[in-house]
Amino acid sequence: MKLLFPLFAAAITAQVSAEVYFKEQFNDDGWKKRWTVASDWKSKDELGEWEHTAGEWHGDAEDKGIKTSQDARFYGLSAPLTKAFNSSDKKDLVIQYSVKHEQKIDCGGAYIKLLPGGEKFEAKKFGGDTPYAVMFGPDICGTSNKRTHVIFHYDKKDENLLIKKDVGCENDKLSHLYTLVLRPDNTFEVFVDNKSVRSGKLDDEFDFLPAKEIKDPDQKKPEDWVEDKMIPDPEDVKPEGYDDIPAEIPDPDATKPDDWDDEDDGEWEPPMVDNPDYKGPWKQKKISNPDYKGPWVHPMIANPEYEYDENMYNVCKDGCTHVGFELWQVKSGTIFDDIIVTDSLEEAQKFAEETFFKKKDGEKEMYDDAQKKERESAAAAMDDDEDDLVESE
Ligand SMILES: *[C@@H]1O[C@H](CO)[C@@H](O)[C@H](O)[C@H]1NC(C)=O
Ligand SMILES: *[C@@H]1O[C@H](CO)[C@@H](O)[C@H](O)[C@H]1NC(C)=O
Repeated sequence: MKLLFPLFAAAITAQVSAEVYFKEQFNDDGWKKRWTVASDWKSKDELGEWEHTAGEWHGDAEDKGIKTSQDARFYGLSAPLTKAFNSSDKKDLVIQYSVKHEQKIDCGGAYIKLLPGGEKFEAKKFGGDTPYAVMFGPDICGTSNKRTHVIFHYDKKDENLLIKKDVGCENDKLSHLYTLVLRPDNTFEVFVDNKSVRSGKLDDEFDFLPAKEIKDPDQKKPEDWVEDKMIPDPEDVKPEGYDDIPAEIPDPDATKPDDWDDEDDGEWEPPMVDNPDYKGPWKQKKISNPDYKGPWVHPMIANPEYEYDENMYNVCKDGCTHVGFELWQVKSGTIFDDIIVTDSLEEAQKFAEETFFKKKDGEKEMYDDAQKKERESAAAAMDDDEDDLVESE
């Protein structure tokens, strides 16, 4: 027992130690006080209004989110974290939120940003140029641009590094849950609807580090390197008289017409026809080149500039203090909900169970009903049209 007890206690502490830096469910009107509209970022006409709503289909009418409500507008909104997230503390960073494109999105961003700035963060000016630590979430424009952004700011290069291979995203009209985990062991993972869709090492999937190997600058292709796979066959020589064979010959079957008058019509000449013996211009046969060495491969050497960086993950080394949306939407109607920033994936998953997963089935049912009604009324409208036609006849 004496041994078991401390273990048990340790398990409890591990559970309790999850830290939540931010949580927002948008379920009360107080959200307007917690969030600041970026009113100095764009003019009033350019900035879209946020609507507080559960949307057309939902699992719970009282459980609201915030919706972009005007087409072709910018949306700027941010809120301070309850507690700053400092990645130097070597904790996991977990960002999670839900996105519902009720409008059947054609073009619009729906990503979230984690921002440094602290006291100096200017919420009213927050916009596309504001420095950020992480940018994460779906962005759709047309059929070819459809991705979940995963972008980390890398202090050492002062660059925002995009994931090199696109991560897909959902574009139907239902809620989807996006989760990003960034770990101090310099790995990351992306989940959509709690399913892992990408994971890996930061240095593999982003350009944090210089290449491990480079082409050896001291080596170059030898002058006498033979790259021609085929050569003309020296044994194959043009037969004598080949070029003397004409392409056309006088038609041997033609005869001078009986009524041909040499004096009036001039000397008769038979028409020309293709020469069956003519074989076109002579081409020398080709054979495999016995000296062929294959393509030259530049030998690689270790890159002297390469240096591993233990601190790639450290995107919030000066503390991240805010989250924000900074978007452009051609077609509005996206609803954001249930945001959490924490250091524990389990905590985020638990939160998802209390929110996203609780509402998901109800939302789907209501959506399916709405779809059914739409189809029925479309069918009814067609019937009406037919009736009108009959009456007018
Ligand atoms: C989410 O995924 C975890 C495994 O990563 C699993 O334990 C959990 O049950 C999942 N949650 C839901 C609601 O499916
Ligand atoms: C972040 O944490 C590190 C290590 O715990 C500490 O040295 C640093 O002062 C912290 N930075 C901020 C901005 O809190």
